[in-house]
Amino acid sequence: LDNGVGRTPPMGWNTWNTFGCNINETLIKQTADAMVSNGMRDLGYEYVVVDDCWFDPNRDSAGNLQANLSRFPSGMKALGDYLHARNLKFGLYQAPLDKTCAQYFNSYPGATGSLGHEEQDARQFAAWGVDYLKYDWCSPTGSIDDQVRTFAKMRDALAATGRPILYSINPNSIHEKTGPQRNWGDVANIWRTTEDITNAWNTGQTNGYPMGIQNIVNVTVPLAGYARPGQFNDPDMMVVGRGGMNDTEMRSHFALWAIMASPLIAGNDVRNMNAATSTILKNANLIAINQDPLGLQATQVSNDGTRRVLAKRLSNGDVAVALFNQGGGTTTVSTTAAAIGLTGGPFTLRDAWTNAVTTTTGTISASVPAHGTAVFRVSGGTALPANRIQGVGSGRCLDV
Ligand code: DGJ
Repeated sequence: LDNGVGRTPPMGWNTWNTFGCNINETLIKQTADAMVSNGMRDLGYEYVVVDDCWFDPNRDSAGNLQANLSRFPSGMKALGDYLHARNLKFGLYQAPLDKTCAQYFNSYPGATGSLGHEEQDARQFAAWGVDYLKYDWCSPTGSIDDQVRTFAKMRDALAATGRPILYSINPNSIHEKTGPQRNWGDVANIWRTTEDITNAWNTGQTNGYPMGIQNIVNVTVPLAGYARPGQFNDPDMMVVGRGGMNDTEMRSHFALWAIMASPLIAGNDVRNMNAATSTILKNANLIAINQDPLGLQATQVSNDGTRRVLAKRLSNGDVAVALFNQGGGTTTVSTTAAAIGLTGGPFTLRDAWTNAVTTTTGTISASVPAHGTAVFRVSGGTALPANRIQGVGSGRCLDV
């Protein structure tokens, strides 16, 4: 979506994965303060997103949305001001039909969705200083065309406010998945590719509920051609630091989200992180790969079911390569400079986890533990002119 925001994948934090409906302004303020003091903000994590359950179950007599004042006694404008004063950005959740997801599932009262209130609600969000709207279709009904029309209504309402607001949509909650059928880039800045993530490596779902890391990667990798500045696939908020996986799997999760040009939205309690979690979320090499201004999502170079190789061209001519071991034991994962679109050489390989630098005339390979992902930034040589890394295979060709 060409609305001036989301030119690189958004980074930030969201309440839902750890706190669900149990949110209040103290939690948000403490989290914002933690993101400043622990260095996350300065690494790019800027959006603080308040998910479902922030609102009063009733609109006011003029039909305006209102904050739930027992949870947010200072109101939403004050919360936005608090975030802006710390150079953070304010994200808020709403739903396009009559009910938010928590209302649909009866875990929260009311029916305060934006249906029929789009312009009024967009103006309200802008007045509160909202910088990011998460808009969550939570209903089994509605064709894809209905979804497009309804999501586009809020897109236009947000544009009409004149405030740049990143637009994040979820067409997939308890609904037929649109997957490759639709590139949502004309409607939103980011769109969910699957049902909700959970803190597990593999839930055995192809695209049902809930999704593990491996399952989400399987759905999102083939959608690479849809990503570009202003529009990115959203494989959901991260579960790094939420348990349920070992550190290798957590590192793999972050590395794969980074190279897939996915939004990097932390979903853990960032007030309270152990060293492993903090090191993963603050990996500046992977953040730089994710935030590269070319805005490409890694395309698949090879996948034999166990060894999967993804590569992402970067704006300075380097290529980031992920060597992903999907199997249950340590194995060597290999590719070549030619396979990732480079010719000539020699090449230097910088390991995104260790910073170790090695050189090669062509082979790129690593011994990778079960469910692990090695990532290298490959420099040197010359870019091959027409190559799948440039998006030819996905219908997108870039002159770089
Ligand atoms: C479903 C979404 O996929 C989640 O990310 C979260 O926003 C919940 N709805 C909130 O009810």
